[in-house]
Amino acid sequence: MSISSAPGKIILFGEHAVVYGRPALAIPVMQVQAKVEVTGSSRPGIRIAAPGVELDAELNTLPSDHPLAAVIHNLLFSLGISPFPALEIKITSTIPVASGLGSGAAVSVALIRALASFLGRPLTDEQVNAFAYEIEKLHHGTPSGIDNTVITYARPVYFIKDHMMETLPVGAPFTLVIGDTGLRAPTKESVGDVRRLWESDKHRWEQVFDAVGRIAESARRIIEAGRPQELGAYMDQNHALLQEMTVSSPELDHLVEAARKAGALGAKMSGGGRGGNMIALATPTTAEGIAASLRAAGAKNTIITTVG
Ligand code: MEV
Repeated sequence: MSISSAPGKIILFGEHAVVYGRPALAIPVMQVQAKVEVTGSSRPGIRIAAPGVELDAELNTLPSDHPLAAVIHNLLFSLGISPFPALEIKITSTIPVASGLGSGAAVSVALIRALASFLGRPLTDEQVNAFAYEIEKLHHGTPSGIDNTVITYARPVYFIKDHMMETLPVGAPFTLVIGDTGLRAPTKESVGDVRRLWESDKHRWEQVFDAVGRIAESARRIIEAGRPQELGAYMDQNHALLQEMTVSSPELDHLVEAARKAGALGAKMSGGGRGGNMIALATPTTAEGIAASLRAAGAKNTIITTVG
């Protein structure tokens, strides 16, 4: 048997603008994980069971662009494995789907690693990341690649599309509270809507993306310098720009406000938006109180995480 797990993620700064080549920062969220178990089978074929999404099917009954089928086909073809072996694949995940926490990318990364290692062909992180990026394109059209990258390397990253991935050194640890609106919103839709806005007025939206890029650059320097308390104001500014891009929602705005009222140093939505999760900058002493205020304001779940 081969087992592999991959964490969730949150975007600290720069979502959406990252699709247009601006820098963004993201961190893994180890409290939530996707897990894949691969075992040999006495029955021919590849059976995939993912109880969380009510899937229990033979590979060849899934459409070829189904993300799980695509992972398996891509990998086995690339590794030159033919005929396909008889396998049972079990996928479980504690990462809520369509919530900005990277559930699709985490399942891809865990599946690629578990399958490759079961077949005796373990891959480098770079190879895993490249495979996972191809699958992200099926999930949401024009991904930047930041989700698969932060999840593959499981480290805080500074990322520019098609360009570079650097590990982000964290000068002093800081505490975040993650609040889930409970609303599920596919990233594909918000990314598509931002593209339509951009196509309608490229000059205006390029300026907005530039402003987001400057925030991500400043945040990177602040994090490296170990002055995380200064990040709050940048989170507020980034949230306002995401509102301008129309990717926030009343529920996200409500939780962001509730976090600020409860003493957060700053707060913003995180990821694709329209639902899913928001993040608030806390301290070790204020985090529990902010999490309780978020739940009182309607958050379906909260996670406290320390970066660095
Ligand atoms: C999703 O986690 C982040 C987005 O910027 C999309 C992407 O970068 O592919 C919204």
